[in-house]
Amino acid sequence: MHVSVIGTGYVGSVTGAGLAELGNIVTFVDIDQEKLAQIRCGKAPIIEPGLEEIIRKNIAHIKTTTSIDIAVNETDVTFICVGTPSNSNGSIDLRYIKSVSEQLGQTLKNKKKYHTVIVKSSILPSTTDTIVIPLIEKKSGKRAGESFGICSNPEFLREGSAVFDFFHPERIIVGCHDEKTRRQIKKLYSSFACTKMFTDIRTAEMIKYASNAFLATKVSFANEIGNICKKLCIDSYEVFKGVGMDNRINPHFLRSGVGFGGSCFPKDVNALIRQAQDLGEKPRILSSVITTNDRQPEKMYSLLKKHVSVKGKTIGLLGLSFKPGTDDIRESRAIPLIKKLQKAGANIVAYDPVAMTNLQELIPDIRYAESPVSVLQSDAILIITEWEEFEHLDYSGKIVIDGRRVEKARNEAKVYEGVCW
Ligand code: UGA
Repeated sequence: MHVSVIGTGYVGSVTGAGLAELGNIVTFVDIDQEKLAQIRCGKAPIIEPGLEEIIRKNIAHIKTTTSIDIAVNETDVTFICVGTPSNSNGSIDLRYIKSVSEQLGQTLKNKKKYHTVIVKSSILPSTTDTIVIPLIEKKSGKRAGESFGICSNPEFLREGSAVFDFFHPERIIVGCHDEKTRRQIKKLYSSFACTKMFTDIRTAEMIKYASNAFLATKVSFANEIGNICKKLCIDSYEVFKGVGMDNRINPHFLRSGVGFGGSCFPKDVNALIRQAQDLGEKPRILSSVITTNDRQPEKMYSLLKKHVSVKGKTIGLLGLSFKPGTDDIRESRAIPLIKKLQKAGANIVAYDPVAMTNLQELIPDIRYAESPVSVLQSDAILIITEWEEFEHLDYSGKIVIDGRRVEKARNEAKVYEGVCW
């Protein structure tokens, strides 16, 4: 199939490159010329294990353009993969979704052949029905399900293992109204053996938000129990090892510590809270998920203060990305901790194998170390991200406050405090 992908962020670039690897011809569309130039040179526009390899391998079947018009006219199917950032009040900023929907409508007005639009960007339930479809219909003068197809196909890729996840999905969720679109999606995903659930558009959109909200709830629940465990000198990791043995619960997403970050959990949970409030609901569980998460860096800071008077001391940070395997620092727990440490007058030295350049743009006024070894010379060390290489450092004689359970630090440090253990 000939497929176009609008947006070359981590969802778009992985989806497009993955579809090229499966034998499709893929046209990437972006307003960022630099990202397109990188793809043309066989480079990945983001750091994601395995991505560059499949872009390079399939370069003969990959095209790039800044024009939605060109992309739509030379393809059968278009994925919308543009970003949906947060507004300052936590609601979702739909400006890219709206602009792309209008441009798609303008193009489809003159396209004679049937075209299918697949929405992959995370948008709140009802957005496709109430915003995307009406904008395309208005600009094209055509009807969804008659002259063009549309569906919601949320993505469940995890940063850091997105390429693996693309080729090994646990499920594919598709929300669509008409039979023709359904047939086309079935064809596009025919090589995947996993369960394919076909439902309506709103339900598919909600499955995405409910999934992320549930996983975030698991993490905050583990943190809340972990905070109680800490007070009672119980190891929360042992507790959740036992709890996770129950099949109804499962052992995943129960790692307690400094809390969740990333571009998805905080953004999606906050957006769902806003939508619920606008609908007259009071989503108490979801609100507590965020409150508990926001408190975890404060817990870590209090544990530090138990052992070191922060003012004038050098505090070392190991890990800056929101999780290992990515250079993404969005909502990283390092950010609130650095702000707190700066306010308290600490000298901060930080190390991360890949995320330092990104954090430097946001926080230029701390010292960035070339290796973890100089961080280890600090008066106290905070572990924010569980990079594998941190399991090989020498922590003997050190004061370590651990937000992620690095076993070597737990076994070796002179003073060791786990956030929830
Ligand atoms: C998450 C979901 O897991 C994906 O399925 C989804 O597609 C994606 O959001 C999205 O909406 O695009 P991601 O943000 O890449 O993926 O990261 P996760 O691996 O889910 O981790 C999120 C945060 O939770 C990280 O900061 C991680 O350190 C933290 N976490 C995770 C914990 O603190 N404890 C755990 O047990 C698990």
